[in-house]
Parts: sequence; structure tokens; C-alpha cells
Amino acid sequence: MNHYNKAAQVYNNTIFYMSDTDYERWYLSNILKYLKLPPKSKKPINILDLGCGTTRTAELIAEYLDYRVSITCVDSCKTMLDLNRKPNCLNLVCDDILSFVMQLSKNSANRVLMKEVIHHLDITTIPSVYKAIYEALEVNGLFLTCTRPHKINYPFFREAYRKWQQHQPPHNFYVSVMRDVGFTDININQLSFPIEISRDDWINFIQQRCWSTFDSSEFSDDQLNKGIEEIKSEYKKVNTLKFNDEIIFITATKK
Ligand SMILES: C[S@@+](CC[C@H](N)C(=O)[O-])C[C@H]1O[C@@H](n2cnc3c(N)ncnc32)[C@H](O)[C@@H]1O
Repeated sequence: MNHYNKAAQVYNNTIFYMSDTDYERWYLSNILKYLKLPPKSKKPINILDLGCGTTRTAELIAEYLDYRVSITCVDSCKTMLDLNRKPNCLNLVCDDILSFVMQLSKNSANRVLMKEVIHHLDITTIPSVYKAIYEALEVNGLFLTCTRPHKINYPFFREAYRKWQQHQPPHNFYVSVMRDVGFTDININQLSFPIEISRDDWINFIQQRCWSTFDSSEFSDDQLNKGIEEIKSEYKKVNTLKFNDEIIFITATKK
């Protein structure tokens, strides 16, 4: 996605991807829990992080496991991959997820993570991607998807809600495809984290177009500015915006 070549310039400084925040710790603790990663595992752990972005999550997982883990981080955007800080503990691959998973060997991984990326894949390719992940996993291997709901409550402007829904299918769609390709024990946990942010910082986040909802292919500068005026008027008496970020953690097992 071209979007992330630009987004990479601001990504690590935005509210949802900043380092060392309570939000990051909350998110990581859930990823560790749902991926069932024991810190002192005797069995080798092989993780694929598909759509890894700047590799921050993979770095934190590696640190938590004391670097006794093999993590392959795949992303099609080299500018995002170049932001990684610990290249030696990760295998970095610049590739499209579909072409990468198609060449995986059977039983080559015991965990697969897709954090905030599944909505970027062409919907018609998802059955093939899931089938290839299923084949690549060992028996009892785990596949964790972290995604956001189809309907959200962020303080957006009207047209942004429509764009969001257009690009973010309901999570049940993913679950049904997981079942179709053979995954079992599929568990869905939707968790909330309370966000407090000044109205100006939130407007800045939208103006920076970090989320693809606000990419210039979706909103021209004029359209984005009009949207921001809508937010300013809606929240003119509010200095601090409060809302929940909702993350859906979907775990699926290969039996
Ligand atoms: C919202 S970011 C999430 C990054 C990271 N997982 C995180 O949570 O910070 C989405 C990432 O998916 C990557 N991406 C999107 N479509 C992709 C594809 N088809 N193949 C590989 N990477 C893709 C983008 O380049 C971007 O880095």
C-alpha cells in the first residue's frame, strides 16, 4: 500500500503507535495472552508477523521472550520496515502477504500474528491467505488477528464513518472464512481501552492522515479540511475528547 510510505513519517509518533504508553502495554499484554507465549518455553517458538509495519510489536515480543524466539516480519512497505530498531533479532521480509504466504512450507510456524492489517487485503484473496496460513501452521498452532469493528465511535466527521465502514468488513466475515479453511476453537474478544486526548491533538492525528481512512485517495486536502471544521464545530466546547478504542482479538487454532 502506497499509503504507508507517507504514513511512516509520522506513524511512531501518533497516539495509537507511540512507544512506552499504557495503551501499548495493554495491547501487548493481550497479544501475549492470546498468542499463548510462555516466557520460558522449552519448545522453539516460530512467529510470523504479517503486516508487521515498523516491527515494534515483534521487537516487544522478542524482548519479552528474552530473544529465544524466531520472528519473521513481513511487510510490503520498505519505509515502514526501515523504522525497525532491532534488526538483528528479527527476520525482515519486504513482500506482499499473499505472495509470501503462498511459498511457505508446511508446519513452518507455530504462531501467526496479523495486527491491524487484514482490512487492507483484497477481500477476494482472504480465503487463499487463510488457507496458506493454515497449511503453514503446525498442529495446535495459533493464528491471532487484531482488528477494529465495522462500526466505530471515534470523534470523526460524517463522511469518515462511511469510508471506515467501506474498508473495514464486519469481523464475522473473517471468522467465517477461518472456519471454511479448517480453523477450529475460534475465539473472539472485543476489548476497550479508554482514550483521552486533547481536541487539538486528535485533529492533528486526522490531519496527519496516519490511518488509511484519511489517505489523500479518500479525501482531498479540501475535503479533509472541511471534515476537520465539522469536528471543530461538533466539539467546540470540549478540550479533552474521551472515547474507547475497541480492538477485536480473534484467535483461531489448527487442530
Ligand atoms: C496499520 S499498519 C499495522 C502495522 C503493525 N502491524 C502495527 O500494528 O503497528 C498496516 C501495515 O500493513 C502493511 N500492509 C498492508 N497491506 C499489505 C500487504 N498486502 N502485504 C504486506 N503488508 C501490507 C502496511 O504496509 C502497514 O505497514
